[in-house]
Amino acid sequence: MSRLIVVSNRVAAPADVKGRAGGLAVALKDALAEHGGVWFGWSGKVAGKTPVKPALTQVGPITYATIDLSRKHYNEYYNGFANRTLWPLFHYRLDLTAFSQQNYSGYLQVNTIFAEKLKRLIKSEDLIWIHDYHLIPMGEELRRAGVTQRMGFFLHTPFPAMEILTALPGHESLIRSLCAYDVVGFQTENDLRAFLDYIVNEAGGGIMGNHLIHAFGHTLRVEIFPIGIDTEDFVRAGQKEIHSAGEKIMRGRPDGFSWIIGVDRLDYSKGLVERFQSFSRLLEAHPAYRRRVALLQIAPPSRSEVPEYREIRRTLEAESGHINGRFAEFDWVPINYLNKSYTRQDLAGFYRASRIGLVTPLRDGMNLVAKEYVAAQNPEDPGVLVLSRFAGAARELETALIVNPFDFEGVADAIARGLEMPLEERRSRWAAMMEGLRANTLTTWRDKFLDTLANAPYEA
Ligand code: UDP
Ligand code: G6P
Repeated sequence: MSRLIVVSNRVAAPADVKGRAGGLAVALKDALAEHGGVWFGWSGKVAGKTPVKPALTQVGPITYATIDLSRKHYNEYYNGFANRTLWPLFHYRLDLTAFSQQNYSGYLQVNTIFAEKLKRLIKSEDLIWIHDYHLIPMGEELRRAGVTQRMGFFLHTPFPAMEILTALPGHESLIRSLCAYDVVGFQTENDLRAFLDYIVNEAGGGIMGNHLIHAFGHTLRVEIFPIGIDTEDFVRAGQKEIHSAGEKIMRGRPDGFSWIIGVDRLDYSKGLVERFQSFSRLLEAHPAYRRRVALLQIAPPSRSEVPEYREIRRTLEAESGHINGRFAEFDWVPINYLNKSYTRQDLAGFYRASRIGLVTPLRDGMNLVAKEYVAAQNPEDPGVLVLSRFAGAARELETALIVNPFDFEGVADAIARGLEMPLEERRSRWAAMMEGLRANTLTTWRDKFLDTLANAPYEA
C-alpha cells in the first residue's frame, strides 16, 4: 500500500485530542496512521523569516512536517491572496474581492517554497493529496521540481461560476495549475459544472467522458466527492448525558421553550447578518414566539487580521445588540451571541438540545455543521434543520427545510414551520437525512478519493 502525503495550509497539531481537532483532521490522521506518511503544511506560527527546513515531529507512523511563515508571506499569502482574493471570489463576493499583484506573488512564492521543502520528504511510491484554495499551484510547482508521483487535489470551497472566476486577473494561470493534478475533486455537481464550463468555454479544453478531461496539455480525472462527517461519532456524542453547564441550562428551560442554534466561524459567507434579520422578522411577524424561543449563535472569530472579517464582526455586534435592545425583556434575551469556540462534544450537546438547526450561509462548499446537527439529534424527538440552498450540504440533505437566506420572510416562515412541525414529520425527514449521512461518511469520502487517485491514469 502506498504511503500518503497530505498537504493542507492548516495542520492539526499532533497533540490535538479528538474533541478539539476538526473532523477532517481526525479522518486524515486516521488515513495517515493506516498508510503511514507525512502531513505537511503551515505551523500556524509567524516567524522573523520563512525557515529553510520544516520542523519534523514523528508520532507513530505519522511525520508532521510544518513550516513557519515570515510576516511578509503570512500577510501576502494567507491574509492576502488566499483570504482577501480567492476566498471571497470563490464565495461569489466580488464586492469583497481585493486583488494585488504583490499578494499574488507572495501566494506563488509560498506555494513554491512548500513544494521545494516537501520534495525532500517524498518517496517513490507515495500518493500526494493536496487540500484547498491556499495551495492550488503547489502541484504544478512539485511537477516543475521533478516530482512524478500521483497527485490529487480537493477543493473544500465552492468553485465559482465562470463569469465570477474570469474577474480574477491571472485566472488562466491559476486554473492551468489546477489541471496539473491527476485527480481534482469538488464538493458538488454545481462546482464540477462550473469548472467544466470554464474548461470548455474559457480554456478551450475538452471533456473526454468517464470523468476525464483534457486541458492545458494535461489529461486528468475530475469528479465530485461530497465530504461527510464521522456520523457515528456525532450520534454517540449526542446520546451522552448532559456534557456541560451550558447544555444543562439549555435543557432547564420551561416546557414550550425552544432553542434555535447556529454554529459558524465568524465569516461573511455564513450569512449571519441575514440570519439575525430573519430571526428578527420571526419575532416581529409572530409575537407569540417572543419569550418562547431564543437563538444561540456560536461564532468563533476567524482570520481576524483581514479587514473584511473585522468589519463583519463589528456589524454583527451592532445587529445583535440592536435586535436584543428592541425585543429583550428582563428575563429573556432573544439572541445569545457568543464569540468563542466549543469542542465537538459540547456542540453535539447543544445541537441535541435545540429544536431548530439554523444553517443559512450565502455560499458554502459543504457545511459540516448542518450534517453534525442532524447526526446529534434524538431519533425519538428530532429537531428540524433549516438549511440554505446555497450550502453544498443542501444537495444531500434534501428533506431539510431548504431556504433562500436572502429571503428573510421565507427563512422566518421556515423557522416557524419547524417549530410547529408534528413529531411524525420531523422523524421521517430526519430518518431520510440520516440514511444519507450513514452512507457517506468522512471515511467513505477519504477512501473514495484515495482509491480514485491510486487508480487514475497519470502522465508524469
Ligand atoms: N466547530 C467547532 N467548534 C466551534 C465551531 C465550529 O469544533 O466552536 C467545528 C464544527 O463542528 C465543524 C467545523 O468547525 O466541524 C466547521 O465546518 P463547516 O464546514 O461547517 O464550516 P467551515 O468553518 O469549514 O467554513
Ligand atoms: C474553511 C476552509 C479551510 C480552513 C477553514 C478554517 O473550512 O475551507 O481550508 O482551514 O475554513 O479557516 P482558517 O483560515 O482558520 O484555516
